[in-house]
Amino acid sequence: MLKIVVCVSGGGTNLQAILDAIEKGTITNTQVLEVISNNPGAKALERARSRGIAAEVISPRRYPDREAFNEAFTDRLKALSPDLIVLAGFLVRIPPQMVAAFGGRIINIHPSLIPSFSGVGYYGLKVHEKVLERGVKVTGATVHFVNEGMDEGPVISQRAVYVEDGDTPEILQQRVMEQAEWILLPQAIDDIANDRICIIDNKVRRRT
Ligand code: GRF
Repeated sequence: MLKIVVCVSGGGTNLQAILDAIEKGTITNTQVLEVISNNPGAKALERARSRGIAAEVISPRRYPDREAFNEAFTDRLKALSPDLIVLAGFLVRIPPQMVAAFGGRIINIHPSLIPSFSGVGYYGLKVHEKVLERGVKVTGATVHFVNEGMDEGPVISQRAVYVEDGDTPEILQQRVMEQAEWILLPQAIDDIANDRICIIDNKVRRRT
């Protein structure tokens, strides 16, 4: 049984996709230990609680500085001791001590085809604003392992989504979530839970 902790910051639609997939059985062999948010107002917390899943808030505002927050966040995860940490719409820079403690066991969903529109400053709606500003015709989403860089870890899966005339950032974000994020993230968790992927030479490979 893969024990996971899901980290969230906002609406929690990616978390919802995970919970629904576990309920439907499209994710197997997986248990959500806890949902943790940096944001006390995150709707994702309600989504967890409505399914009887523990939901914790660890807010930077409650700590004297970023380092104290990083320590508290990492300590909570160490106490839970998950097999996998899933960043699902989590908008906080991952503490270096968390990467050190859980390296290779943290995955993230990013709303573009990495390396395009990724890295520092590219998160949430901003990604889609930049996609429309640049005028690209295809975008999408990426699930990747998290390392010490920003959106630089080994890519697990990607899915393309067409940009359409008249798209606003909000319309595009919704299409990318529906056609890519909510499909890719549950699939990646199920693959990891059932030992279907591995990392060779820093590249993700499917076990044959
Ligand atoms: C989504 O665009 C997701 O790609 C990004 O954060 C946004 C909100 O995600 N990481 P969610 O609804 O909180 O899962």
